[in-house]
Amino acid sequence: MFRRGKSVVGLDLGSQVVKAIEITLEGPEPVITGFARVEVSAGGDRAQALHEAFQQGRFRSKNVVTSVAGQSVVVRYINMPHMSESELRQAIRLEADRYVPFELDETMLDCQPLTKRAARASMDGEDSSDQPMNVLLVACQMETLEEQIQLVQSEGLNPLAVDVDVFALANAWELCGLPDDEFEGGDDRAIALVDVGATRTSINVLSCGETCFSREISMGGADMTQAVARRMGVEVFEAEAIKRAGDGEEPEVSRAIGPVLEDLTNEIALSLDYVEHHEGLQVEEILLSGGGVLAPGAVTFIEQATGRATRTWNPLEGLRIAVDRVDVEELEAWAPSMVVALGLASRVRAA
Ligand SMILES: Nc1ncnc2c1ncn2[C@@H]1O[C@H](COP(=O)(O)OP(=O)(O)OP(=O)(O)O)[C@@H](O)[C@H]1O
Ligand SMILES: [Mg+2]
Repeated sequence: MFRRGKSVVGLDLGSQVVKAIEITLEGPEPVITGFARVEVSAGGDRAQALHEAFQQGRFRSKNVVTSVAGQSVVVRYINMPHMSESELRQAIRLEADRYVPFELDETMLDCQPLTKRAARASMDGEDSSDQPMNVLLVACQMETLEEQIQLVQSEGLNPLAVDVDVFALANAWELCGLPDDEFEGGDDRAIALVDVGATRTSINVLSCGETCFSREISMGGADMTQAVARRMGVEVFEAEAIKRAGDGEEPEVSRAIGPVLEDLTNEIALSLDYVEHHEGLQVEEILLSGGGVLAPGAVTFIEQATGRATRTWNPLEGLRIAVDRVDVEELEAWAPSMVVALGLASRVRAA
């Protein structure tokens, strides 16, 4: 009776919070048509949180894109001789055991040539056809993938794709609209997307809008909560509430989480120094996302300790939200922690 655009739900099954955001394409325009955020209970029952998220979210679609992260996923940036994409897909199977620490017959492999920066370089006069190709190789243990797919299907949902957290960050960045002149200053400028979750921090460095480095650090907001619990002698759930309340206890919370922030920032800085050194890039800006960056003083600390312009990233800027379907105030309040979900939902454009 009336035309309905395509819709996809980006489903971020975080270790502490399940987050879901639905994007519907109205013509070419992505519109946010659903949102849910449900904390996983102390027992860690993600299936229950997922169930609640779909009750809460009033989504139109059952098509979901989820992601994997952690130790069962390996990402490598490798050089291969110049070849076509189909040749690359065959060649990579033979190369993979040099780079992947898993049994290959129990591993899902994917790869993609990284072309944007090379194309820029060749526009500057260098011929790229005899240069080695930079290739992104991703390997995920089949068991983890299957668990993820089962979880989603048991809720009656239809998994369209399974992505990796760090790449969802890049997809969210792309969805937010990257002005083409952003990189007019040359192809040696880069930005770092850094998502501080509960148990892990994901880093993706983009140059010419394309990933050139990614890394996961096993540290995040849960370590800050632990530190508060230890310092103040309270239970973890109390520490969590104190950390988030941002009232009179703030100086005490800051003191407690200081060492965690320091360790985390050291790791981030190490990564950025590495990229700058190895890729000949200048990381000019850090965009922070994830619930962990809401901790008091986190943004300023990272800015000062890394010496780079740093801001909290609101990925909703410039996106239309269907106000009749979404609790806009709630969504805006949690916007920085919705980046991965949004990046996953951005796949609607390929669905
Ligand atoms: N107001 C707040 N102040 C400080 N920390 C907060 C606040 N709100 C949420 N957090 C922290 O954010 C973290 C959850 O963030 P997020 O939803 O990004 O995690 P997740 O995606 O479930 O985790 P992971 O990506 O590690 O699996 C928790 O550690 C929580 O304590
Ligand atoms: Mg997360």
